[in-house]
Amino acid sequence: MPTVLITGASSGIGRSLALVYAQAGYQVFAGGRSQERLSEICSQHSNIETLICDLTEPEALKAASINLPNLDVLILNAGTCEYIDDAKQFDGELFARVINANLTSVGYCLDAWLPLVKSGGNLAITSSSAAFLPLPRAEAYGASKAALTYLARTLSIDLKPNNIHVSVIHPGFVKTPLTDKNSFPMPFLTSTEEAAQAIFKGIKLNKSDIHFPRIFTWLLKTLSLLPFPCWKILASRITH
Ligand SMILES: NC(=O)c1ccc[n+]([C@@H]2O[C@H](COP(=O)([O-])OP(=O)(O)OC[C@H]3O[C@@H](n4cnc5c(N)ncnc54)[C@H](OP(=O)(O)O)[C@@H]3O)[C@@H](O)[C@H]2O)c1
Repeated sequence: MPTVLITGASSGIGRSLALVYAQAGYQVFAGGRSQERLSEICSQHSNIETLICDLTEPEALKAASINLPNLDVLILNAGTCEYIDDAKQFDGELFARVINANLTSVGYCLDAWLPLVKSGGNLAITSSSAAFLPLPRAEAYGASKAALTYLARTLSIDLKPNNIHVSVIHPGFVKTPLTDKNSFPMPFLTSTEEAAQAIFKGIKLNKSDIHFPRIFTWLLKTLSLLPFPCWKILASRITH
């Protein structure tokens, strides 16, 4: 049976991904901190096992990984989002919290689990379409995601001799507990089921850049080609 480890599987995109992989006949290792929410998806499929740990704690992560088998697919999807409300009163604690949860934790995951990924296997890292261009109030979230895109692309080069395919995932807005907190309009909001299907297909095809919904992500990719001063004027008009 092929194996997949998915972080952030207790909720949102990761939860739907775990269900898609379970239905496709994979042995799924579903990561998260919430035992209760992970138990709920395990009860739906006998081929889903939980991997409960806080990814910002490398020792706990290693201890939880002891009995893991070799992996066909590793999806580093867990993440959080907090916005900087007042850039002048920059909240350094918030910044550190977001970078730790979204970026530093991925380093710990790679340290623990990359050696388990088989030759011919896949590594996918969830960034965000926020990585395409600077968005208002996203100093912490956007910086963590832009760094993940860079990290994934660098790994894509360096893991080529190991025959590991690396995908970076750039979702647009997906309806999850993370985005339910947003009070601003979210164009082209998609469901977690649609997101999970796009990611599953993209990884199967060894795509290096998985982005969706395409109309929204292509629009952002096109805007990112603008000279920065033009984007700065546009972005300021959107927010002020
Ligand atoms: N939703 C969107 O519109 C959107 C857009 C672009 C990118 N993304 C990215 O997609 C990924 C999934 O987001 P989502 O929207 O599905 O959010 P979500 O529903 O809030 O899920 C986040 C998941 O990450 C896990 N997690 C967070 N911090 C963790 C930690 N320290 N240790 C272990 N697990 C942790 C949570 O598990 P526990 O709570 O059980 O710990 C949860 O399962 C994130 O990386 C997010 O940045 C989302």
